[in-house]
Order: sequence, then C-alpha cells, then structure tokens
Amino acid sequence: MKLLAALLLILGINGQLQAAIDAVYDGDNGIRSRVLTVCMQCHSTTLAGGARNGSPSFVNFNTYADAVLWGDLAVTRAVIEGSMPPQGVQRLNAEQKAALSAWQAAGFPEKSATVSTQQQPDCLFNWAETSFPNFFAPRALSLSADPYYYRYYSQTNAYLAIASSRLYYLGPVSSGTVADLGDVVTWYATSGCK
Ligand code: HEC
Repeated sequence: MKLLAALLLILGINGQLQAAIDAVYDGDNGIRSRVLTVCMQCHSTTLAGGARNGSPSFVNFNTYADAVLWGDLAVTRAVIEGSMPPQGVQRLNAEQKAALSAWQAAGFPEKSATVSTQQQPDCLFNWAETSFPNFFAPRALSLSADPYYYRYYSQTNAYLAIASSRLYYLGPVSSGTVADLGDVVTWYATSGCK
C-alpha cells in the first residue's frame, strides 16, 4: 500500500506535478497555453492601440495561423536573443524556452495526431511518456503478450502494461515487482484519453 501511494504521488494523479509542455500549439499543455500566453499580453489580435504596449499590430500569437507565421522569429527573439518579452516583463523560463525550440524543431505542429486517432491504451502510454519522461523513456511501441498489452522502456528499464482493465507498472520505482496502479478507466480520465 505504501509503495502504491508513493507511485501514485510520483505519477502525479493528485495533480501536484505539472505535466511537461507538449510541442504542439493546441491543448492544455500545448505551446499556446503554456508559453505563448506570455506573449499574448501584447501580441494578440484581441488587443488594440495602447493595450498592445507598442508591439507591431501584425505580430500575433493568439491564433495558430499567426503564430506559425512568426514562429521562427519568436524562437530567435525569445530563446536565442532573449529580447522578448521586453525588459520589465517576466521572461520565459528554461522549460518554456526548451518547449518553444522543440515546437520549432517539430515543424510547428498544431495538434498532436495521437490523441484523436489512437486507441485508448496507446493514448494512455503516449501520455505517460510525454508527461513523465523520467520514468518512461525512450518512447516505445506497444506490444502484446497475453494477457498484457504493454510498452517496455529500455532507458528507464520500466514496463507499463494493461490487462483486465487494470494498469500495471514494473520497474525501478516498484523495486522490480509488478505494481497495480488501479482501474485503467480512471487513468483514461486522468490522461484525457476518453
Ligand atoms: C510587454 C509587451 C510584449 C510582450 C509580453 C512580448 N512582446 Fe514581442 N514585441 C513587443 C514590442 C514593443 C515589439 C516591437 C519592438 C521590438 O521589436 O523589439 C515586439 C516585437 C516582437 C517581434 C517582432 C520582431 C521583429 O524583429 O520584427 C516578435 C517576433 C516578438 N515580439 C515575439 C514575442 C514573443 C515570442 C513573446 C513571448 C515570448 C513576446 N514577443 C512578448 C512587445 C511585447
């Protein structure tokens, strides 16, 4: 029981850990929500005149179409030069800078293809990999070995598996024994894989 409680804590089911920023524009953990809102204090089509704080009227980040247009320059100014946001405004933190660069490297995608098109188990595994790369890396392909549908993470030496509607973990955090993480339906809800 103690181990399970620790695992759930680590996996952030109680919401204490914030998930990593996704390298896509949309979504609660996407670039718009987690990075560009900083820029939208001045660079938004919803702002006019003095409310723009002097930012060029054509440089905006509140829609995907605009954000993509200015994506490269955004990385230059906010990550490479560090000259945006301007003096006096809270700069991007290291995680935000890394995410903005990752978004550029990925070709400025709008949404992640995975969530809407993949099956729930794959969606859940993908979510775990994106949110907790310290535990589930590198990204892996799903395999099945009756009764388990699972992924093995060679770098972190861990398994995530689903069988009979339960989610299981096996790896260093559970000292190499199989830990039952509970009803997989709950995890689908937690991960947004509904
Ligand atoms: C407090 C208001 C403010 C915030 C917040 C802000 N900017 Fe700006 N931005 C400006 C102003 C003013 C200019 C025009 C002066 C300049 O280019 O330095 C500008 C210009 C720009 C330009 C055009 C530069 C060019 O060379 O034409 C880009 C790109 C840009 N900002 C990106 C960003 C990004 C990305 C963020 C968020 C990480 C951001 N800005 C946050 C005020 C802001």
